[in-house]
Amino acid sequence: MQIKKYQKIITEIYSDIKDVEDLGKVANYIPELGNVSADNFGINITKINNESFGIGNFEGKFSIQSISKILTLTLAYKLEGEKLWQRVDVEPSGNPFNSLQQLESDYGIPRNPFINSGAIVVCDVLISHLQNPKEEFLNFCRELSNNFTLNYSEKVATSEKNTGFRNVALCNFIKSFKNIKNNVDEVLDFYFHICSLEMSCKELSEIFLYLADDKFRTHKENSVLTESQAKRINAIMLTCGFYDESGEFAFRVGLPGKSGVGGGIVAIHPDEFCIAVWSPKLNKKGNSYKGMLFLENFTTKTACSIF
Ligand code: DON
Repeated sequence: MQIKKYQKIITEIYSDIKDVEDLGKVANYIPELGNVSADNFGINITKINNESFGIGNFEGKFSIQSISKILTLTLAYKLEGEKLWQRVDVEPSGNPFNSLQQLESDYGIPRNPFINSGAIVVCDVLISHLQNPKEEFLNFCRELSNNFTLNYSEKVATSEKNTGFRNVALCNFIKSFKNIKNNVDEVLDFYFHICSLEMSCKELSEIFLYLADDKFRTHKENSVLTESQAKRINAIMLTCGFYDESGEFAFRVGLPGKSGVGGGIVAIHPDEFCIAVWSPKLNKKGNSYKGMLFLENFTTKTACSIF
C-alpha cells in the first residue's frame, strides 16, 4: 500500500481516538515513569522503502521498557545461536510479565524471552559474551538503526533499581536453579539499563525494520540475524509479545508486536512496514490502552494484518 493511503487512514484513526476516554493508568511502580504526561499520543509508520509518516507526538522520546527485550534477544541470538534455547523457552506464559510462579515447576527456565524472567536470563547470556555490556549493547542499537543519539535514561534506570524488588527476586530465584551464571547485581544493573533505553515512535519504527525486510538485517557488513532467526523472533513476538494478552493482540490486531510499560507498542508487517504507537496509560495487563485500540483500528481499516 502507498504511504499516502497509510497517512490518510492513520490521520483518521488518530483524530477518532485522540479524545476518546482513556481507561488506562500510567505505570508508576517505577516512580520515574509516573512523571510522564498521560496525554502524549504519537504514531509513526516506516515502510521498508524508508517512506515514513508520523502524527501527534511521534518525535518525543520515551522509556521503551520491555520493547528493548527484542533488541537484547536479537544480540543474544546472534552471539549464542541455537544454544540460547537451552536457557529460555519459546512458549507463551499466559501470566503477568513479572510473575515468579512458573519458574519453580520449570526449574528456572523462563517460558520466553519477553517476560521479565526471560529477559533477565538473556541479559546474563549477553554479559557472558561482552566485555562492557552496557556500552556494547548501546552501540549495537545505535549501529542497527544508524542513530547515534540513542541512549539510556540514568534517571529511569536508577528509579527502577531502587524499586525493582520483583526483578531482584526473579534473578536470585533463577540463580538458585543455576540458570544465571554471572553476578546478580551486575545482571540486574544491565537489565535496568536496557529497560531505560529511550526512543521516539519514529526511531522505534526505524530500528525494527530488520524484522520486516532482509536488507536491514546487516550492519557493518555483518548479518544481524539469518532470515530464519528473524522469522523466529517475529513468531515469538506474535505469541508472547503482550504477556497474558498476547492472544488478544493477535486476535484484535493480527501482527507480531511488543509492548512496554512506558506505553509504547511496536508492530511489524513482514515485507511491508514497522509501526510504533505511544500512549502512556496502560490497561490492566500492562499494555497501552490507546495503543491497542489504535492498532486494532489500523489493521481493520487497512486490511493489513498477517492473516
Ligand atoms: O522490569 C520491569 O518491570 C520493567 N522494566 C519492564 C516491564 C515492561 O515493560 C512490561 N511491559 N509491558
